[in-house]
Amino acid sequence: MNAPWKPAGAAQREPFAAYVCDDTTAELLRPIAAELGWSVDKVHKGGLRNAVQSLSVSASPQILLVDLAESGDPLNDINSLAEVCEPGTVVIAAGQVNDVRLYRDLIASGIQDYLLKPLHPDAMREAFGHAQAMLNAPKLAEANVDRPHCAIAVIGTRGGVGASTVATSTAWLLAEREKRTVALLDLDVHFGTGALTLDLEPGRGLTDAIENPSRIDGLFIERAMVKATEKLAVLSAEAPINAPLVTDGAAFYQLQEEMRAAFEATVVDLPRAMLVQHPHLISDIQAAVIVTDLTLAAARDTIRVLSWLKTNAPQTHLTVVASRVHPAAQLEISRKDFESSIERKIDFLIPFDQKLAAQAAKLGKPIAEAGKNTKTVAPLIELTRHVLNVGEELVATGSEGKATAKRKSLIGGFSALLSKRAKK
Ligand SMILES: Nc1ncnc2c1ncn2[C@@H]1O[C@H](COP(=O)(O)OP(=O)(O)OP(=O)(O)O)[C@@H](O)[C@H]1O
Ligand SMILES: [Mg+2]
Repeated sequence: MNAPWKPAGAAQREPFAAYVCDDTTAELLRPIAAELGWSVDKVHKGGLRNAVQSLSVSASPQILLVDLAESGDPLNDINSLAEVCEPGTVVIAAGQVNDVRLYRDLIASGIQDYLLKPLHPDAMREAFGHAQAMLNAPKLAEANVDRPHCAIAVIGTRGGVGASTVATSTAWLLAEREKRTVALLDLDVHFGTGALTLDLEPGRGLTDAIENPSRIDGLFIERAMVKATEKLAVLSAEAPINAPLVTDGAAFYQLQEEMRAAFEATVVDLPRAMLVQHPHLISDIQAAVIVTDLTLAAARDTIRVLSWLKTNAPQTHLTVVASRVHPAAQLEISRKDFESSIERKIDFLIPFDQKLAAQAAKLGKPIAEAGKNTKTVAPLIELTRHVLNVGEELVATGSEGKATAKRKSLIGGFSALLSKRAKK
């Protein structure tokens, strides 16, 4: 169901069929089907169960609407539908459960859209329009198969450690050195610097998306994203600070979904508070870059963030980056002590480079661009290659999501560090 293609014999397929649970839905659907030139007889009663029965003995339509209202376990039932449904069918589900997690899981299982009941005619027209566009655009889906999309999240363990600097530079390097098309999604909605660093106006795209998640589609992405270079586009906001963020997170999942279809890589600047609020943001990320400085507070929070990620995103590859690192004599904690505290190596170390940071800010460029051949940028180049390699390999081998969590208590390491401090 996932990637629409037109197999031989697609012409014999019905363009449309629906399996709905109640008369109201059927009555609402028929005139819309007629408008689109589809047979109204293809609106059947019986919901998902009937769909599975019918499709196990007949050809699948090109567009299929299934009503999940009577389904006790929608996700499981959708999977049984997948077993009888031929590839190439675009499936739209409808149901009464308003739950972002279910929505996400359904989308991940390959359905095109999930509509909330009672259905609204405009929402249905829009969903069918998208489904038709999917059927008519097989090349886009094929393009993504060649180069699997790679999603990278950058998370700072403390405020101001340099996470957004790493995120913007990684995105820029992916685009300019690695020649990928890249979306930079800055989820620091009130205070984000993704656009500012690249000398761009953030626009209203992200704010609009949060206010109106149902409007997010490929076209929306195309219009809302601000281009930094030929290959790099940014979605960022400077939301008014007198207005709290009102969202259940649906917009963020939807944005990631659309970016996956439209770009070869996504870099998400993911503030740690956002992770607490919307833990599911991490579920489709192949590589998480944890940025930290070498301080006691950051050691504690690196331990906590790593432990959280290992539990909540066992499929995600983790990379630890120490940033803004001063000369050894000036450090609050040495690299060695920090590493033994977090019970793993620091993978990359970016030195503190005030001159370059100031120069980049003045030029309105990411530090990776402003300091191309410097010692500060070299680890950023390596980091970018590393996350791209692991990310693309995870997608290519299909091992993401299957890896098992290797849970290990990290608290021991932190207490050791505290007692070491007490002894000094
Ligand atoms: N390697 C570096 N050397 C010197 N200054 C740096 C370095 N990296 C980042 N900075 C500077 O540190 C400041 C904070 O960086 P940045 O905004 O990337 O941190 P952050 O972790 O995203 O912060 P926040 O918690 O506000 O999101 C910025 O002024 C940036 O220019
Ligand atoms: Mg930041």
